[in-house]
Amino acid sequence: MQIITPTSVLRDWTEHDAPALVRHADNPRIAATMRDGFPSPYTISDAHRFIAMATAPGRQLFLAIEVDGEACGGIGINPLEDVHRGSAEIGYWLSGSFWGRGIITDAVRALVPVAFRQYDIVRLQACIFSNNPASIRVLEKCGFVREAVHRNAITKNGVIMDEIVYAVLR
Ligand SMILES: CC(C)(COP(=O)(O)OP(=O)(O)OC[C@H]1O[C@@H](n2cnc3c(N)ncnc32)[C@H](O)[C@@H]1OP(=O)(O)O)[C@@H](O)C(=O)NCCC(=O)NCCS
Repeated sequence: MQIITPTSVLRDWTEHDAPALVRHADNPRIAATMRDGFPSPYTISDAHRFIAMATAPGRQLFLAIEVDGEACGGIGINPLEDVHRGSAEIGYWLSGSFWGRGIITDAVRALVPVAFRQYDIVRLQACIFSNNPASIRVLEKCGFVREAVHRNAITKNGVIMDEIVYAVLR
């Protein structure tokens, strides 16, 4: 898949992205607002493991965010299961060198209609740690609605904080 946005290209990961992935993902400031599955430090074997998962057949969608010819972030859709099967989660991260240029806002805006086309879902959600005002702003700019605050739901790097749920409906 390839999606061209005003500020980046969203495309499938390839094995060649591994060195760039390490260069951009190995940043504790990125990991601080991600679930613990996002490694910190981020090693080359983490990159190979991630790319193997991202390129294997499966229901999840993982796309690289390419800027200036290099993968410098990731965005994806995770369809939920069981009684939550009408929902999917959107997740994303971007290299710190590119923050504040509207790249993720453009990427989320472009991916939302694709998610509703690709999956039989009625709802797309994102769960944000309360230490992440930039991500909250991205979602609000993209039309997501703040639905809930799960108090003390997150323990990250030894700190307990709230989780904020945003969603957009089909
Ligand atoms: C969150 C993240 C994806 C944002 O990417 P980005 O490309 O910088 O986002 P954009 O430039 O599209 O938009 C960021 C918005 O947040 C705003 N913002 C940034 N820091 C902010 C802060 N501390 N408080 C309030 N708003 C803030 C920016 O001003 C901008 O809004 P604006 O266009 O109205 O000025 C990026 O910071 C990141 O990768 N963080 C680490 C990983 C992560 O948190 N992923 C999401 C997990 S839910």
